Amino acid sequence: MIIILLGPPGAGKGTQAGAIAGRFGIPHISTGDIFRANLKNGTPLGLEAKKYMDAGSLVPDELVVRLVGDRLGETDALKGALLDGFPRTVGQADALSACLAGQGRGVDHCLCLEVDDGVLIKRLAGRRLCRGCGAGFHVDFSPPPADGRCPNCRGEIYQRDDDSEATIENRLKVYHDQTSPLIAWYAERGLLRVVDGDAPMATVEAGVVRALGL
Ligand code: AP5
Repeated sequence: MIIILLGPPGAGKGTQAGAIAGRFGIPHISTGDIFRANLKNGTPLGLEAKKYMDAGSLVPDELVVRLVGDRLGETDALKGALLDGFPRTVGQADALSACLAGQGRGVDHCLCLEVDDGVLIKRLAGRRLCRGCGAGFHVDFSPPPADGRCPNCRGEIYQRDDDSEATIENRLKVYHDQTSPLIAWYAERGLLRVVDGDAPMATVEAGVVRALGL
Protein backbone atom coordinates (compact mmCIF):
# COMPACT_ATOMS: atom_id res chain seq x y z
CA MET A 1 0.00 0.00 0.00
CA ILE A 2 1.53 3.29 -1.11
CA ILE A 3 -0.28 6.39 0.17
CA ILE A 4 0.69 9.97 -0.59
CA LEU A 5 -0.26 12.66 1.91
CA LEU A 6 -0.65 15.91 -0.01
CA GLY A 7 -1.58 19.35 1.26
CA PRO A 8 -0.25 22.82 1.96
CA PRO A 9 2.16 23.61 4.79
CA GLY A 10 0.29 23.30 8.09
CA ALA A 11 -2.62 21.30 6.64
CA GLY A 12 -2.07 18.60 9.26
CA LYS A 13 -0.08 16.04 7.26
CA GLY A 14 2.27 15.26 10.14
CA THR A 15 -0.61 15.26 12.63
CA GLN A 16 -2.60 12.63 10.69
CA ALA A 17 0.35 10.57 9.48
CA GLY A 18 0.93 8.45 12.59
CA ALA A 19 -2.64 7.15 12.69
CA ILE A 20 -2.73 6.33 8.96
CA ALA A 21 0.66 4.61 8.94
CA GLY A 22 -0.35 2.68 12.08
CA ARG A 23 -3.59 1.41 10.56
CA PHE A 24 -1.76 0.01 7.53
CA GLY A 25 1.39 -1.07 9.39
CA ILE A 26 3.56 0.89 6.96
CA PRO A 27 6.42 3.33 7.65
CA HIS A 28 5.75 7.07 7.70
CA ILE A 29 8.29 8.71 5.38
CA SER A 30 8.40 12.50 5.74
CA THR A 31 10.95 14.21 3.51
CA GLY A 32 10.83 17.31 5.75
CA ASP A 33 11.63 15.17 8.83
CA ILE A 34 14.48 13.44 6.97
CA PHE A 35 16.02 16.81 6.05
CA ARG A 36 15.62 18.13 9.61
CA ALA A 37 17.23 14.95 11.06
CA ASN A 38 20.14 15.34 8.62
CA LEU A 39 20.54 18.97 9.61
CA LYS A 40 20.56 18.06 13.31
CA ASN A 41 23.38 15.59 12.57
CA GLY A 42 25.25 18.15 10.45
CA THR A 43 25.34 15.97 7.32
CA PRO A 44 26.12 17.53 3.89
CA LEU A 45 22.54 16.71 2.80
CA GLY A 46 21.09 18.52 5.83
CA LEU A 47 23.28 21.58 5.29
CA GLU A 48 22.38 21.70 1.59
CA ALA A 49 18.64 21.31 2.31
CA LYS A 50 18.73 24.05 4.97
CA LYS A 51 19.51 26.69 2.32
CA TYR A 52 16.19 25.98 0.62
CA MET A 53 14.09 25.22 3.70
CA ASP A 54 14.99 28.48 5.45
CA ALA A 55 13.80 30.39 2.39
CA GLY A 56 10.60 28.34 2.15
CA SER A 57 11.69 27.01 -1.26
CA LEU A 58 11.80 23.42 -2.45
CA VAL A 59 14.93 21.31 -2.20
CA PRO A 60 15.96 20.42 -5.80
CA ASP A 61 14.14 17.41 -7.26
CA GLU A 62 17.30 15.40 -7.92
CA LEU A 63 18.24 15.38 -4.22
CA VAL A 64 14.75 14.48 -3.01
CA VAL A 65 14.04 11.84 -5.64
CA ARG A 66 17.24 9.90 -4.91
CA LEU A 67 16.58 10.08 -1.17
CA VAL A 68 13.02 8.74 -1.43
CA GLY A 69 13.97 6.12 -4.02
CA ASP A 70 16.60 4.72 -1.66
CA ARG A 71 14.20 4.81 1.30
CA LEU A 72 11.47 2.96 -0.63
CA GLY A 73 13.95 0.18 -1.33
CA GLU A 74 14.53 -0.49 2.37
CA THR A 75 13.02 -3.68 3.81
CA ASP A 76 10.28 -2.06 5.91
CA ALA A 77 9.03 -0.03 2.91
CA LEU A 78 8.70 -3.03 0.60
CA LYS A 79 5.22 -3.70 2.06
CA GLY A 80 4.25 -0.06 1.52
CA ALA A 81 4.75 3.47 2.78
CA LEU A 82 2.99 6.66 3.74
CA LEU A 83 4.73 9.49 1.87
CA ASP A 84 4.30 12.80 3.73
CA GLY A 85 5.41 15.88 1.76
CA PHE A 86 6.54 13.90 -1.30
CA PRO A 87 6.00 14.30 -4.20
CA ARG A 88 5.83 18.11 -4.28
CA THR A 89 6.34 18.73 -8.01
CA VAL A 90 5.13 17.03 -11.17
CA GLY A 91 8.76 16.01 -11.79
CA GLN A 92 8.83 14.25 -8.41
CA ALA A 93 5.48 12.55 -9.16
CA ASP A 94 6.82 11.24 -12.48
CA ALA A 95 9.99 10.00 -10.79
CA LEU A 96 7.97 8.29 -8.06
CA SER A 97 5.78 6.49 -10.62
CA ALA A 98 8.89 5.29 -12.47
CA CYS A 99 10.57 4.14 -9.26
CA LEU A 100 7.49 2.22 -8.07
CA ALA A 101 6.89 0.70 -11.52
CA GLY A 102 10.46 -0.59 -11.41
CA GLN A 103 9.53 -2.35 -8.16
CA GLY A 104 6.31 -3.75 -9.68
CA ARG A 105 3.94 -1.50 -7.73
CA GLY A 106 2.25 1.91 -7.88
CA VAL A 107 0.50 4.60 -5.85
CA ASP A 108 -2.77 3.39 -4.28
CA HIS A 109 -4.13 6.68 -2.89
CA CYS A 110 -3.22 10.36 -2.92
CA LEU A 111 -4.91 11.89 0.11
CA CYS A 112 -5.19 15.67 -0.05
CA LEU A 113 -5.96 17.72 3.07
CA GLU A 114 -7.65 21.02 2.15
CA VAL A 115 -7.28 24.09 4.39
CA ASP A 116 -7.52 27.81 3.55
CA ASP A 117 -4.39 29.95 3.65
CA GLY A 118 -5.67 32.19 6.48
CA VAL A 119 -6.07 29.19 8.80
CA LEU A 120 -2.67 27.79 7.77
CA ILE A 121 -0.87 31.04 8.58
CA LYS A 122 -2.35 31.09 12.10
CA ARG A 123 -1.50 27.42 12.68
CA LEU A 124 2.11 27.73 11.52
CA ALA A 125 3.01 31.11 13.02
CA GLY A 126 1.85 29.91 16.45
CA ARG A 127 3.34 26.41 16.27
CA ARG A 128 5.99 25.46 18.84
CA LEU A 129 7.70 22.07 19.15
CA CYS A 130 9.76 20.13 21.69
CA ARG A 131 13.32 19.33 20.60
CA GLY A 132 13.33 16.22 22.77
CA CYS A 133 10.13 14.30 22.02
CA GLY A 134 8.63 16.34 19.16
CA ALA A 135 5.46 17.23 21.11
CA GLY A 136 3.53 20.09 19.53
CA PHE A 137 2.15 23.26 21.13
CA HIS A 138 0.42 26.39 19.87
CA VAL A 139 0.79 29.82 21.44
CA ASP A 140 -3.01 30.37 21.34
CA PHE A 141 -4.63 26.91 21.33
CA SER A 142 -2.30 24.83 23.57
CA PRO A 143 0.34 27.20 24.99
CA PRO A 144 3.69 25.75 26.04
CA PRO A 145 4.69 26.12 29.72
CA ALA A 146 6.16 29.51 30.68
CA ASP A 147 9.56 27.95 31.55
CA GLY A 148 10.00 26.93 27.87
CA ARG A 149 10.47 23.26 28.83
CA CYS A 150 8.36 20.33 27.62
CA PRO A 151 6.07 18.90 30.35
CA ASN A 152 6.66 15.36 28.99
CA CYS A 153 10.45 15.21 28.68
CA ARG A 154 11.81 18.62 29.82
CA GLY A 155 13.17 19.18 26.31
CA GLU A 156 13.60 22.70 24.96
CA ILE A 157 10.54 24.16 23.24
CA TYR A 158 11.39 25.94 20.00
CA GLN A 159 9.94 27.46 16.82
CA ARG A 160 10.88 25.94 13.45
CA ASP A 161 13.12 28.31 11.44
CA ASP A 162 10.68 28.11 8.51
CA ASP A 163 7.69 29.08 10.68
CA SER A 164 8.51 32.81 10.53
CA GLU A 165 5.76 34.84 8.85
CA ALA A 166 7.83 35.79 5.78
CA THR A 167 8.89 32.19 5.17
CA ILE A 168 5.35 30.87 5.68
CA GLU A 169 4.16 33.26 2.97
CA ASN A 170 6.73 31.89 0.52
CA ARG A 171 5.98 28.26 1.47
CA LEU A 172 2.31 28.87 0.61
CA LYS A 173 3.23 30.54 -2.69
CA VAL A 174 5.50 27.62 -3.57
CA TYR A 175 2.70 25.20 -2.69
CA HIS A 176 0.18 26.95 -4.94
CA ASP A 177 2.67 27.34 -7.83
CA GLN A 178 4.53 24.04 -7.78
CA THR A 179 2.67 21.47 -5.66
CA SER A 180 -1.06 22.12 -6.15
CA PRO A 181 -0.90 20.99 -9.85
CA LEU A 182 -0.50 17.50 -8.37
CA ILE A 183 -4.14 17.60 -7.27
CA ALA A 184 -5.26 17.47 -10.92
CA TRP A 185 -2.40 15.07 -11.79
CA TYR A 186 -3.59 12.44 -9.29
CA ALA A 187 -7.30 13.15 -9.98
CA GLU A 188 -6.72 12.36 -13.68
CA ARG A 189 -5.30 9.00 -12.62
CA GLY A 190 -8.29 8.22 -10.35
CA LEU A 191 -6.13 8.25 -7.21
CA LEU A 192 -7.16 11.51 -5.50
CA ARG A 193 -9.09 11.43 -2.18
CA VAL A 194 -9.90 14.88 -0.76
CA VAL A 195 -10.51 15.52 2.95
CA ASP A 196 -11.49 18.79 4.66
CA GLY A 197 -8.54 19.54 6.95
CA ASP A 198 -10.19 22.56 8.59
CA ALA A 199 -12.05 20.69 11.32
CA PRO A 200 -11.15 19.30 14.76
CA MET A 201 -8.31 16.76 14.50
CA ALA A 202 -10.58 13.78 15.33
CA THR A 203 -13.05 14.85 12.63
CA VAL A 204 -10.23 15.10 10.08
CA GLU A 205 -9.04 11.62 11.10
CA ALA A 206 -12.57 10.26 10.60
CA GLY A 207 -12.63 11.90 7.15
CA VAL A 208 -9.31 10.26 6.31
CA VAL A 209 -10.61 6.85 7.38
CA ARG A 210 -13.71 7.29 5.18
CA ALA A 211 -11.68 8.54 2.21
CA LEU A 212 -9.41 5.51 2.38
CA GLY A 213 -12.40 3.17 2.68
CA LEU A 214 -11.29 1.80 6.06
P1 AP5 B 1 7.73 19.70 5.62
O1 AP5 B 1 8.40 19.35 6.86
O2 AP5 B 1 7.10 18.63 4.79
O3 AP5 B 1 6.73 20.88 5.95
P2 AP5 B 1 5.36 21.36 5.31
O4 AP5 B 1 4.84 20.61 4.15
O5 AP5 B 1 5.54 22.82 5.14
O6 AP5 B 1 4.36 20.95 6.40
P3 AP5 B 1 4.40 21.16 7.94
O7 AP5 B 1 5.23 20.12 8.59
O8 AP5 B 1 4.70 22.59 8.31
O9 AP5 B 1 2.86 20.98 8.22
P4 AP5 B 1 1.94 19.69 8.22
O10 AP5 B 1 1.01 19.68 7.04
O11 AP5 B 1 2.72 18.45 8.48
O12 AP5 B 1 1.05 20.09 9.44
P5 AP5 B 1 1.19 19.66 10.97
O13 AP5 B 1 0.55 18.32 11.16
O14 AP5 B 1 2.58 19.86 11.46
O15 AP5 B 1 8.76 20.46 4.62
C1 AP5 B 1 9.58 21.50 5.10
C2 AP5 B 1 10.50 21.96 3.98
O16 AP5 B 1 11.34 20.85 3.56
C3 AP5 B 1 9.83 22.43 2.68
O17 AP5 B 1 9.43 23.79 2.76
C4 AP5 B 1 10.96 22.20 1.66
O18 AP5 B 1 11.93 23.21 1.73
C5 AP5 B 1 11.59 20.90 2.16
N1 AP5 B 1 10.96 19.72 1.52
C6 AP5 B 1 10.27 18.74 2.15
N2 AP5 B 1 9.83 17.83 1.26
C7 AP5 B 1 10.26 18.24 0.04
C8 AP5 B 1 10.09 17.73 -1.29
N3 AP5 B 1 9.38 16.61 -1.54
N4 AP5 B 1 10.66 18.43 -2.30
C9 AP5 B 1 11.37 19.55 -2.08
N5 AP5 B 1 11.55 20.09 -0.85
C10 AP5 B 1 11.00 19.44 0.20
O19 AP5 B 1 0.21 20.76 11.61
C11 AP5 B 1 0.57 22.12 11.63
C12 AP5 B 1 0.02 22.77 12.91
O20 AP5 B 1 -1.40 22.76 12.87
C13 AP5 B 1 0.43 22.03 14.19
O21 AP5 B 1 0.64 22.97 15.20
C14 AP5 B 1 -0.81 21.15 14.48
O22 AP5 B 1 -0.95 20.91 15.86
C15 AP5 B 1 -1.93 22.04 13.97
N6 AP5 B 1 -3.05 21.27 13.45
C16 AP5 B 1 -3.00 20.16 12.67
N7 AP5 B 1 -4.24 19.72 12.39
C17 AP5 B 1 -5.08 20.59 12.99
C18 AP5 B 1 -6.50 20.69 13.05
N8 AP5 B 1 -7.29 19.81 12.44
N9 AP5 B 1 -7.03 21.73 13.76
C19 AP5 B 1 -6.24 22.63 14.39
N10 AP5 B 1 -4.89 22.59 14.38
C20 AP5 B 1 -4.33 21.58 13.67
